[in-house]
Amino acid sequence: MNDSFIFGLPSVLFQIDNVRLIYNFTSRTTTNSPGVTIRVPGFGNTTSVEFLDPSEASPGHYFNHIVTTSLLPLGYVRNETVKGVPYDFRKAPNELHQFFLDFQALVESTYREAGNKSVVLMTHSMGGPMALYLLHRVKQSWKDKYVRAIVTLGAPWGGSVKAWKVFAAGDDLGVYVLPAHTLRGMQRTSPSTAFLLPSTLFWEKDEVLVSVPGKGNYTVHDYERFFHDMEFPEGAAMRQDTGSLMGQLEAPGVEVFCLHGQGVSTVESFYYKEDKYFPDRPSLNYGNGDGTVNIRSLRGCLRWAGKRLRIGPKRRIRVEGTKQSQPVHHQEFPGIDHMEILKDDSVSDYITTVMKTINNIR
Ligand SMILES: *[C@@H]1O[C@H](CO)[C@@H](O)[C@H](O)[C@H]1NC(C)=O
Ligand SMILES: *[C@@H]1O[C@H](CO)[C@@H](O)[C@H](O)[C@H]1NC(C)=O
Ligand SMILES: *[C@@H]1O[C@H](CO)[C@@H](O)[C@H](O)[C@H]1NC(C)=O
Ligand SMILES: *[C@@H]1O[C@H](CO)[C@@H](O)[C@H](O)[C@H]1NC(C)=O
Ligand SMILES: *[C@@H]1O[C@H](CO)[C@@H](O)[C@H](O)[C@H]1NC(C)=O
Repeated sequence: MNDSFIFGLPSVLFQIDNVRLIYNFTSRTTTNSPGVTIRVPGFGNTTSVEFLDPSEASPGHYFNHIVTTSLLPLGYVRNETVKGVPYDFRKAPNELHQFFLDFQALVESTYREAGNKSVVLMTHSMGGPMALYLLHRVKQSWKDKYVRAIVTLGAPWGGSVKAWKVFAAGDDLGVYVLPAHTLRGMQRTSPSTAFLLPSTLFWEKDEVLVSVPGKGNYTVHDYERFFHDMEFPEGAAMRQDTGSLMGQLEAPGVEVFCLHGQGVSTVESFYYKEDKYFPDRPSLNYGNGDGTVNIRSLRGCLRWAGKRLRIGPKRRIRVEGTKQSQPVHHQEFPGIDHMEILKDDSVSDYITTVMKTINNIR
């Protein structure tokens, strides 16, 4: 009989005009624009994570391909042994307290409904750090009982330079989660973008990621100065609120299947040809990644297996004590970008194999 399966990933459906958040420097939290209420629909139901677009039109397909090709053929049933866990992806974990309580309760109820069978968590993009945030905060005995494994797709374990570019240029997030046009105009106000800025655990203190003539160079230690220079104090505050939520990226303490694309041109740093272009018109330098997340961040899960992390032809960074005894499986998919990973057949075949192994199906 199958283990159950839970998706942890973002999904919010809303009017584009209404997605802006307003930051309150006193409470250090965000609220919707006046008069706007945003509801995260269908918690537990898979519909909200299979389709981002209520019309279920093809461009809005999200987890639908994986559910249809990897899970249903193995006997999984929507809303019974497959559940969806949508959240307001504009917010970072510090503002999603109720979500994590609901998420934990859903894991427990799904376990019971399935006849006391542990669940597999599956995430895309920021869903990976979100699930890790929960796993950091529950007891090992809870994980041993309820969580069979976690499968992460394209998780930005150490953030992404693209998030920084989003704050600067304010344009398409290219997206952790949704097609760009859905998001335009909101990313700068989203604490989740600050949460996903490149981490000091993954970039070194002498690596210049942003360079502005007449202003200077910025590394991952210079967010405060950067946001000051672009006269965006909310950015600095939101980074302070969210920059340490992942701790030292301690291991999840459950078996990991870490899947991601690579070999896709990804923003690695940016600079300004003249200071009059700052901050809206950066010039971009590209490197390896999945088009949204840099390769070193995607490979962050390797720290838990204790492997050395190669981050470039010359540099290596030291791996801290974040290893775990549970296996860490790592699989890269060349040429597959951040969103394609949800639709690619080699990925869904891999997931099918993983799920068969977990369920002892030949
Ligand atoms: C900001 O938060 C503080 C403290 O919670 C509250 O008293 C204040 O009314 C809020 N400001 C606005 C504009 O909502
Ligand atoms: C899940 O949500 C969809 C769309 O809102 C709805 O049509 C469907 O009936 C729901 N499924 C269950 C089992 O509640
Ligand atoms: C899932 O289906 C059950 C009935 O089988 C229903 O009670 C529940 O509301 C559904 N949940 C969602 C989120 O659709
Ligand atoms: C699941 O565990 C509970 C508590 O230990 C027990 O009462 C129940 O009978 C178990 N259910 C199944 C299907 O084994
Ligand atoms: C900024 O960094 C570049 C190399 O990336 C270096 O050539 C330049 O001197 C630096 N400028 C300042 C002001 O530190």
